[in-house]
Amino acid sequence: MSKKYLIWDLPLRIFHWLFALTIAGSWYTSEHSSDFIEYHMLLGYFALGLLVFRISWGLVGPKHARFSQFIPSFKTLINYLTCIKQNKKHYSPGHNPLGALMVILMIVLITLQAVSGLFINDDVFSSGPYYGSIAPEIEKIMSFLHHNLFDIMIVSIILHLSAITYYWKIKKENLILPMITGKKNVNEINESDAISSSRIPLAISIVIAAIFFVYWLVILNAPIIEEFY
Ligand code: HEM
Ligand code: HEM
Repeated sequence: MSKKYLIWDLPLRIFHWLFALTIAGSWYTSEHSSDFIEYHMLLGYFALGLLVFRISWGLVGPKHARFSQFIPSFKTLINYLTCIKQNKKHYSPGHNPLGALMVILMIVLITLQAVSGLFINDDVFSSGPYYGSIAPEIEKIMSFLHHNLFDIMIVSIILHLSAITYYWKIKKENLILPMITGKKNVNEINESDAISSSRIPLAISIVIAAIFFVYWLVILNAPIIEEFY
């Protein structure tokens, strides 16, 4: 059996699969919003917590989780595109430069989607915790974003899945297994690019801080809006 090196830390892998499930659940509950709006909002808070974790992890997490490690410069991107054009192999132990841009796009879009949800209502009984607390014009923008960004998000998720299928079927590189086990084969990466640990204690501290932050945001800090019947 060939030797394998750890590339994706455990917290990042747990984040990824929870994130995918949460977004799928948010979509499903929004499609049946009259029955599931409460669950939709709970999933939205969970997505916010995951995003707070991932953004913090992108600053202090292990090597391949860090934004500074994978956000590509223009030169790296061009170099990568040239390799693809010439059908040459590009060495990317973590996210490849194009994949990295897609990762950032998905994180930004989903952050905007979840944050805008805090300010809107469903015209029936349910409102985000900050509905009614901002100027009506800004509320309209939030509602516009929440109702329209999702389509762009779907496109980016489809591109994400297509890229993974392309790597699997055409380039014969399975990216899914490393996102489950965390490990890549010795012939795919250099030993110096392996990470030595998943930094679990640090991840647990960030998870606790993220839970407190979301609790503060949606419960403690949410304004109490007077309702008139
Ligand atoms: C709603 C669905 C999904 C969303 C929003 C999503 C989002 C993401 C994000 C944000 C990352 C970057 C991970 C990080 O650095 O934190 C990522 C990576 C990845 N995702 Fe997904 N994902 C989704 C579904 C899936 C599914 C269904 C699969 C597998 C069939 C998958 C396979 C992967 C793989 C293999 C990577 C690593 C790519 C690489 O090697 O650069 N994703 N995804
Ligand atoms: C990742 C997070 C989220 C996703 C992907 C998401 C997605 C969606 C989608 C696709 C819709 C249907 C829009 C339409 O019918 O055009 C929707 C509706 C809605 N969402 Fe979210 N949402 C998220 C987070 C939130 C949060 C955090 C809240 C509030 C706490 C929220 C509150 C609502 C409400 C109240 C509606 C109903 C709007 C209406 O019926 O006009 N959402 N959401």
